[in-house]
Amino acid sequence: MQRSAESITIALSKGRILKETLPLFAAAGIEPLEDVHTSRKLIFETTQPNVYFIIIRAVDVPTYVEYGVADLGVSGKDVLMEHGAEEMYELLDLNIAKCQLMTAKMKDVALPAGRLKVATKYINVARRYFADQGRQVDLIKLYGGMELAPIMNLADVIVDIVDTGNTLKANGLAPDEFIADISSRLVASRLALKMKDETIKPLVALLAAAIKRNS
Ligand code: ADP
Ligand code: PRP
Ligand code: MG
Repeated sequence: MQRSAESITIALSKGRILKETLPLFAAAGIEPLEDVHTSRKLIFETTQPNVYFIIIRAVDVPTYVEYGVADLGVSGKDVLMEHGAEEMYELLDLNIAKCQLMTAKMKDVALPAGRLKVATKYINVARRYFADQGRQVDLIKLYGGMELAPIMNLADVIVDIVDTGNTLKANGLAPDEFIADISSRLVASRLALKMKDETIKPLVALLAAAIKRNS
């Protein structure tokens, strides 16, 4: 697939964000030409001849955008906070996949007085959060299912996404401290804003209108 210098490549997070992202882009006149849910492709042509979607793991979106190989990206604020976002700009809050980043622990169990064991996939966020409070922690990196860690005594605390609270509850945990409100964001690479601003601007305006109607 030959993408020209004028084309726009948009990195979308697969998984739960995608279902809510596609209707927003559709309202802005950009739809993939194939069913992204059944295709094994990773790059898709769209109804706009110069706009392409790449559909990748949520955690990989900031990497493609910071290197400027994707011009735009849709990413959870949690992922952006964890990755760091120096080479990109947050253009819009899509107001989708809303949840909170929290600490959680076993219900009715007091935390130990000394060093805390913290299990999370958000190592950088957790390190910053506890350091800001002057609390000593040992960080344990996990890639999912964080709720299991306190049950198995791997950790005292987890840092994870909470939405309905059902996952915590089902595992005998309770939310403890609030860290941040999370939703998905449209980000742009610094390079794209410099080189393709004329193409990006109208697209962002259409998306902003679609978000407003959707919120
Ligand atoms: P992953 O496999 O990386 O966990 P997900 O599709 O589950 O990918 O999550 C992608 C993004 O959706 C997260 O980065 C977060 O912003 C948001 N998210 C995750 N879990 C929830 C949830 N339970 N409710 C709402 N939004 C969520
Ligand atoms: C996410 C998150 C929590 C759960 C929170 O997990 O990591 O476990 O959703 O949602 P709730 O408060 O509504 O229960 P996900 O389903 O994405 O599983 P994962 O571990 O594969 O990311
Ligand atoms: Mg998940």
